[in-house]
Amino acid sequence: MTAEPHIRIFDTTMRDGEQSPGASMTMREKLDLAELLCEMGVDVIEAGFPAASTGDFDCVRRIAEQTAKSDTIVCGLSRSTPQDIDRCGEAVRASGNPRIHTFIATSPIHMEQKLKMGENAVLEAIGRSVSQARNLVGDVEWSAEDATRSDFEFLCRAVDVAISAGARTINLPDTVGYAHPEEYGAMFRKIRETVPDADKVIWSAHCHNDLGLAVANSLAAVQNGAGQIECAINGLGERAGNAALEEIVMALRVRRDALKCETKIDTTKLARASKMVSQITGFPVQYNKAIVGKNAFAHESGIHQDGMLKNAQTYEIMNPEDVGVSKTSLVMGKHSGRHAFRDKLKALGYELQDEALNDAFKRFKDLADRKKHVFDDDIMALVDEQLSRGDE
Ligand code: KIV
Ligand code: ZN
Repeated sequence: MTAEPHIRIFDTTMRDGEQSPGASMTMREKLDLAELLCEMGVDVIEAGFPAASTGDFDCVRRIAEQTAKSDTIVCGLSRSTPQDIDRCGEAVRASGNPRIHTFIATSPIHMEQKLKMGENAVLEAIGRSVSQARNLVGDVEWSAEDATRSDFEFLCRAVDVAISAGARTINLPDTVGYAHPEEYGAMFRKIRETVPDADKVIWSAHCHNDLGLAVANSLAAVQNGAGQIECAINGLGERAGNAALEEIVMALRVRRDALKCETKIDTTKLARASKMVSQITGFPVQYNKAIVGKNAFAHESGIHQDGMLKNAQTYEIMNPEDVGVSKTSLVMGKHSGRHAFRDKLKALGYELQDEALNDAFKRFKDLADRKKHVFDDDIMALVDEQLSRGDE
């Protein structure tokens, strides 16, 4: 099965992301983030859950107004109740491209234990809610919450009802981050083969990261015909989070040879978006986080630094500039080699000849054994001290 050539990026940092405990954002912060997402070329911004609170409603409405002249779709989330859907329609109305995203759970555990609804009642709610939403906006997305733990036959019936009622995008979330890539991909392949009119809608992946598989699962969905991925900056989201937007985008970019599709994201803004979300939420980005972590383009070992100085492609599969990081950093520590040390000295304005270089390198290694972080100032102090001794 071939992938769709253009994968739409649906950013849910301000909706699912904001559902991370402690990650709430102010109106000003959301407006600034929406501006950056728009500049980055995100296809859909899920701006919030308008029925959740007046504050959320106002944020969605203001983001819809702010982005009205752009191509970006502004979407609000809504349960399947008539009140939620009306509220959502009102909140997104000012957007140039409004979308209502409505959902209901389809798994036995959610229907029996949470909704207390039988299959027929759920199917009836899907038909009614999608039709109501379609009377308010032309673009309706429907999600089968907990799709990966749903009975496949019932899931197909639910999706069929949603498509017949006018949904244009069908999202099959791995709500609890339970699926493995092979299973998640197979679900997309099979449902697209089974449901009538499957080719009339865009199929969407929404993966949670409880087993650390959210990005892998999203890519498996793409390989099986999904045309939209729902993700969040820094992987923010409920519990262990959603698929990280920056990882999805760069995986599709760097491996376009294998995946045969692309997004329209300006990747040079990824680092800035990551920093902004981290500052807004107060959630630090882990040092070794793919793409945007502090160490994602840092090399400490002598062998790696030597390779990097000869040709960056020895140890880097993408250019730091492509994700908005100014340059690779060769971190000076106990694993660094003589070659990298000489380069560092040069960058700091020192040209030491053989013996002096050997002497400085030995003293640098001694220092690196004692001190966890060797900063430029430490190296400068060490060399200055050596040079002043030489002057005596
Ligand atoms: O994880 C999930 O199932 C969701 C839906 C509401 C789309 O966030
Ligand atoms: Zn979710």
